[in-house]
Amino acid sequence: MIELGVLLIFLGVAAGVGTGVIFLIVGEMRGAPFVATDKRLLESMFAGIILKPQDTFVDLGSGDGRIVLWAAKKFGCRSVGYEIHPWLVWWSRWKARENKLKKAEFKREDFWKADISLADCVFCYLVPRSMERLGLKLEREGKRGMTVISRAFEIKRWKDKLILRKEVMGKRVYVYTMP
Ligand SMILES: C[S@@+](CC[C@H](N)C(=O)[O-])C[C@H]1O[C@@H](n2cnc3c(N)ncnc32)[C@H](O)[C@@H]1O
Repeated sequence: MIELGVLLIFLGVAAGVGTGVIFLIVGEMRGAPFVATDKRLLESMFAGIILKPQDTFVDLGSGDGRIVLWAAKKFGCRSVGYEIHPWLVWWSRWKARENKLKKAEFKREDFWKADISLADCVFCYLVPRSMERLGLKLEREGKRGMTVISRAFEIKRWKDKLILRKEVMGKRVYVYTMP
């Protein structure tokens, strides 16, 4: 009986770890691997960005939810994270509940299919190979005046939309606006 219990626990842990690893690989293949932005960068990265309570902020590939949670708290706006990894979504929702951040939402969805038409500000921290496709999606679906903040990588086709390029603690940040 004890052996069966041990076996079941082992199988449960193995299934959990296996699922976690599979979704890490899926994230890597679909857009970017999971690498969290250092929380100390946030204030400087968003310096000059003002969002009103009726605005919508979106993080495409929200990881552990830290930026969505931070934006919901700082600006009091609707703050939405799209994330492919179910564990990261679960963790983010738990943190939102724990911090009573009712305007923070997490969707377990592929961000390439996300509806970003209402977004006033979009954040992304992806990889160079995703930036061209991202630029096309945002051009097609984003609204006029939308701000886009990209950590680390530029959207090359958007040279005309770049309003600021800065370094925050040695990390590059690109800020664009949709005309
Ligand atoms: C570099 S991390 C950035 C996390 C977070 N934005 C931050 O800066 O702390 C990129 C995240 O995007 C997620 N991701 C990659 N492709 C995705 C896709 N197609 N749809 C949703 N999430 C995706 C990964 O699972 C990963 O958590």
